[in-house]
Amino acid sequence: MSTALSSVGEEHALHLDAVDPLPARRADFHVPPATAGRYAEVAYMAGNSLGLQPRATRAVLDQELADWARLGVEGHLEAERPWKPYHEFVRDGAARLVGALPVETVVMNSLTVNLHLMLTSFYRPTRERFAILVEDSTFPSDSYAAQSQARLHGFDSAEAVIRLRPRPGEDCLRTDDVVDVLRTRGHTIATTMLGGVNYLTGELMDIPAITAAAHDAGVIAGWDLAHAAGNVPLQLHEWGVDWAAWCHYKYVNAGPGGPGGAFVHERHASDASLPRLAGWWGNDPATRFRMEPAFVPRPGAVGWQVSTPPVLAFAPLRASLELFDAAGMPALRERSLRLTGYLETLLDVIVAERRAQVLTPRDPARRGCQLSLSVPDARTLAQRLRAEHGVICDVREPDVIRLAPTPLYSSYHDCWRAATALRNLLPAR
Ligand SMILES: Cc1ncc(COP(=O)(O)O)c(C=O)c1O
Repeated sequence: MSTALSSVGEEHALHLDAVDPLPARRADFHVPPATAGRYAEVAYMAGNSLGLQPRATRAVLDQELADWARLGVEGHLEAERPWKPYHEFVRDGAARLVGALPVETVVMNSLTVNLHLMLTSFYRPTRERFAILVEDSTFPSDSYAAQSQARLHGFDSAEAVIRLRPRPGEDCLRTDDVVDVLRTRGHTIATTMLGGVNYLTGELMDIPAITAAAHDAGVIAGWDLAHAAGNVPLQLHEWGVDWAAWCHYKYVNAGPGGPGGAFVHERHASDASLPRLAGWWGNDPATRFRMEPAFVPRPGAVGWQVSTPPVLAFAPLRASLELFDAAGMPALRERSLRLTGYLETLLDVIVAERRAQVLTPRDPARRGCQLSLSVPDARTLAQRLRAEHGVICDVREPDVIRLAPTPLYSSYHDCWRAATALRNLLPAR
């Protein structure tokens, strides 16, 4: 076995864990027990799919359940955290996460619903300018959303959804190529809906450069930040992004199906003339309970809310945002760079001798914490990683596994375990 992955390697991993300037806040999370391998807990590398449960989650949920039991409907006004303005308790933390002003931020619904709400307002196609720009490897739900929006406006979705492909032989997009498409075909594009971090390859797009190029071409700059929020530092306000949507159940650890977020830049946020799918929670609270038929949108991104916030789904987000505030995104990013760089070093050793290839850009500035590997029979590999080694990663059919050491709770030792297990299971070249 090569030195990097030998028991010396394990000692080195443990040493790195001991000396890291921002050690994992693992004690703040429930790390699932391992049912295989030598260790008590799993090496959890799937925070890009579903983040682990913060230990604080149960208490915030218990609080809401207790208030519901104690107060019934009066909890809307009298709960410890009154339910009526509940979305406000998560707004500022979510805004800090994406570099937005509070007025530009709203937590609501799930991601695809929010993509539709944003497209309804910002995809205003004309005969000349009717396209939505996505990556070819965009998440399927984004494809469906883009295609169905184009069809809603009477366009042929095959023409109206422009899919950006990497150059032949390459796995990721180049910023220059994206900018070039905006320069040459921008007059036909109404909005972008690009993944800030691509879900499959882990590529971090140059959001400010592409946003600027979109604007130069008269294109609305919209982003899906599912894999970027809580993973990489974002400055949506400063970058001038028009709209964005994301989820909180991945890196933000808000729990399965946890509520999504949406960003509407200040310059649009209070524009009551923007068409939208309206509901009473987006109405001015001063008149909401007058029960009148005329919709008066609330200024700010909150004006895009449709329904009553689901308090039991929002409560865990309060707990998880507090962890981000305590650690601070800049420090988390530094730790993330160290962890992913370390994992990459280990994977380099494996890739040299086993049938696997890293798809994610090598430049740390062009990725978050996730490294994607192309491997033979990814599903069986992931099953064996879990069943034989207690390593949890996730699979994208047919040939990709994704490993995401998340800086809040993953350790160097988790990376070492994942790499060692992969080396054991992958066939030789
Ligand atoms: C990039 C991306 N877009 C959309 C979705 C769908 O999210 P939701 O089920 O919350 O609508 C996901 C879910 O993983 C995703 O990763």
